[in-house]
Amino acid sequence: MSIVIDNVTHIYHRGTPLETVALSGVSLVVDRGEWVSVVGHTGSGKSTLAQHMNALLLPTEGHVSVDGVGVEENRARLREIRRKVGLVFQYPEQQIFEETVFEEIAFGPRNWGVPKDEIPERVTEALLLAGLGETFKGLSPFHLSGGEKRRVAIASVLAVRPDYLVLDEPTAGLDASGKRELCVLLRGLKQKGTGIVHITHDLELAVSVSDRILVLTGGKSRLWGTPEVILEELMEREVPGLVMPPVPLFSGRLRELGMDVPVTWNAKTLVSAIERCVRK
Ligand SMILES: Nc1ncnc2c1ncn2[C@@H]1O[C@H](COP(=O)(O)OP(=O)(O)O)[C@@H](O)[C@H]1O
Ligand SMILES: [Mg+2]
Repeated sequence: MSIVIDNVTHIYHRGTPLETVALSGVSLVVDRGEWVSVVGHTGSGKSTLAQHMNALLLPTEGHVSVDGVGVEENRARLREIRRKVGLVFQYPEQQIFEETVFEEIAFGPRNWGVPKDEIPERVTEALLLAGLGETFKGLSPFHLSGGEKRRVAIASVLAVRPDYLVLDEPTAGLDASGKRELCVLLRGLKQKGTGIVHITHDLELAVSVSDRILVLTGGKSRLWGTPEVILEELMEREVPGLVMPPVPLFSGRLRELGMDVPVTWNAKTLVSAIERCVRK
């Protein structure tokens, strides 16, 4: 059970003066119960890739399938894919349109045919999961803060109980505690078997939470692997626009100086390794 992106190229406005190659031969696999982050500079193709995962955009070349169903198959199958893969847009305003938070969150389950009497329960469940109280139900989503709007957008996708959750820069506009809470929520969903695709330009966050990471540059796949592999590769070759987080930068420098420490994002792991070296 996985989302498979196979050699996907996406060209906007093909054959016109505005032609833009946003993705070029990108491949990746996201299994259920796995957390994959996609990192890259602005314009590297992250949002375009996100929209291929639930068939909102179709590839110009290449194939996308979700749990074995290809996006190029008939429209009924596209609906099935869109129910399985929840997409939280980069800007909550792209997603929010109802007058109350309740209506906003109820829209998805209604659209997918959840029985009427189950809707209130779905809304409450999603609100609480997204870290919003029930008091939000009657409020207008347009009058909420940026962080709260984002939570409503996440809740409205969670209410459909998707098998995969794709979040396009979900931590933008959240403070440090908001980021932490979101990561706790996503880790909980992952443990219950949801596949998480987390789009971000924050490499420091990505290496600390992901099972695997895809680094995109200029619409091309630059690196793909576990956080450890990605950090090792970035030590060897810098990727323009990606800022190496301070802890791995420091661990890499210590290695250059001959200390036997791992390249790690985890400060505690690094401190223990330094202590071991010093005691030797
Ligand atoms: N709807 C669109 N029409 C035309 N070009 C687009 C559109 N959306 C994105 N692009 C272009 O595709 C490239 C990748 O954009 P995008 O996927 O938004 O990258 P990212 O999310 O990493 O910032 C950029 O050059 C961008 O200008
Ligand atoms: Mg984007």
